[in-house]
Amino acid sequence: MTTMKMSLRLVFYAIKWSKWIVKKNYGAKFIMSFGIENRLSKIFKPESGKTVMLAVDHGYFQGPTTGLEDLRKTLAPLANLADCLFITRGMLRNCVEKNIQSSICLRVSGGPSILGELSNEDIVVSLEEAIRLNVSGIGMSIFVGAENEDRTISNLGRLINEAEKYGMPVLAITAVGREMARDSRYLGLACRIAAEIGSRIVKTYYCEDFYKVVESCPVPIVMAGGTKIPEKDALLMTENAIKEGASGVDMGRNIFQSENPAAMMKAIKAIVHKGADSKEAFDLYSRG
Ligand code: 5RP
Repeated sequence: MTTMKMSLRLVFYAIKWSKWIVKKNYGAKFIMSFGIENRLSKIFKPESGKTVMLAVDHGYFQGPTTGLEDLRKTLAPLANLADCLFITRGMLRNCVEKNIQSSICLRVSGGPSILGELSNEDIVVSLEEAIRLNVSGIGMSIFVGAENEDRTISNLGRLINEAEKYGMPVLAITAVGREMARDSRYLGLACRIAAEIGSRIVKTYYCEDFYKVVESCPVPIVMAGGTKIPEKDALLMTENAIKEGASGVDMGRNIFQSENPAAMMKAIKAIVHKGADSKEAFDLYSRG
């Protein structure tokens, strides 16, 4: 057989083999599971399996809220201390250094301002944009029990359908409407729905009997911090959340509105990744 014939035969078998791989979906399976796992490993530190996300997305409905008026300035001492930044597209483009070490989780929902009906959100950033921005995850809010509950939950389903095709984890935020109680019954309902729809991460608030919320949600839960409280209390809340099964935090105001945001970040990290208690963490915070 001539070399030419042998090469043609090799090419023929290579094409046949690759078609078989695609038909069996082996290639797709391998590539997809690697993509999503690789992205998740940039959010959750493989050493502890947990994450300290810094949430700075508040401007998407609150405008220049206290502590985020000059986002570049706020982020300067903090961005690289976080495992992951939770941020909007516009602020990522304009206020984040291109060589940032932390991973990025992009908020993709929006619509109403603080003056309107908060649950009236839609998806405002495309998946292509998220991929172009090289993010490790995308997040949107669902408003269980609010006026537009059904639309926000259907939007979550649609977003996950698309995101999973590209190995992009979706984080669901169980946003609390103005008149909603932050108790384990309501948050447990919202977190479970987010998990049922297919979210890879769920963000919620701390509440009494938080462990009940965690126990009924089989995907990792990260705790949002909520309104600013004294540092000691925020650290105790973090310790309790971790002890009750949280996989980390996605915290904003209790870090960037702190007297010493960088020290607060280090103290939170000690609890989440090293298992420090809140007293040890507060000592660390006080040393600066
Ligand atoms: C705003 C959000 C925030 O990311 C979330 O609430 C965490 O921030 P904070 O700790 O300040 O509550 O989703 O809608």
